[in-house]
Amino acid sequence: MTKDAQPTLRLLNGAEMPVLGLGVWQVPDGPACEGAVTAALETGYRLIDTAQAYGNESSVGRAIRSSGIPREEIFLTTKFHPGRRDPLAEMEKSLERLGTDYVDLYLVHWPEGGPTRAWPGMEAANVAGLAKGIGVSNYSAAELEELSKVSQITPAANQFQFSPFLYRRSLVEACTDAGIVAQAYSPLGTGEHLDDPVVEQIATATDRTPAQILIRWAVQKGLSVIPKSTHRGRIEENFDVLGFELDEASVEALDALDTTGETSDAKAPSQKWWS
Ligand code: A2P
Repeated sequence: MTKDAQPTLRLLNGAEMPVLGLGVWQVPDGPACEGAVTAALETGYRLIDTAQAYGNESSVGRAIRSSGIPREEIFLTTKFHPGRRDPLAEMEKSLERLGTDYVDLYLVHWPEGGPTRAWPGMEAANVAGLAKGIGVSNYSAAELEELSKVSQITPAANQFQFSPFLYRRSLVEACTDAGIVAQAYSPLGTGEHLDDPVVEQIATATDRTPAQILIRWAVQKGLSVIPKSTHRGRIEENFDVLGFELDEASVEALDALDTTGETSDAKAPSQKWWS
């Protein structure tokens, strides 16, 4: 499937971001990462999501280059490590590792040092043409609001952990209201939600897999979704969610699994990697 043939979400900068992508969080640099990205591109994925903190940008770049797919056909995201000083300088290093002239989206990985700290440097990376779009990750609605008071450029996207169990309904609404595309990472709860009885029951009833149910639910909520897998069969399975629809009863049953009280916060109670 070409980039043009798959559903996309339009970002504020006018770019079209594919709804489905491959995330490579926790995939070690080297053959595992290169293999996963290669399998995804062969399957038809055209959105690949990495980060400076993952340490695997070189493998992502190698797989993209050796795929033979024109660079402009692929939507590539990386993220600024906010423990570092300068987003523009770090962007240049990322591009070197990725072996490309630009990324499609550059996100502040988490709001360390406050939600506005990195933004001027992110805007500089955008103005320099190194990042076609800029956005944030793990930002709450309050942090988006704080950023909006000082930003020249509105973030194109906010990426956060999202699944029926971490529904964050108010955060999704805040993004929508601001024109910010919401993107779901860990839609499978890093694999932990796959054997939930409600998810399994809906999978059995619809002749789909639990992973497909969880990914489809996030797609129907209007988000871009980036499940992670290093197995070709699962990478294919996770992409095969565009040809069916969850009915209202199934969506409601999944909605009811929320443990966040429909929060506008982005942080899970267990997430302690920034203050
Ligand atoms: P693996 O990489 O070994 O395939 P999330 O996207 O929520 O972070 O979940 C990623 C986890 O879920 C990984 O451990 C991944 O394992 C596993 N996973 C991804 N897709 C599937 C699938 N279709 N079926 C079962 N497990 C999956």
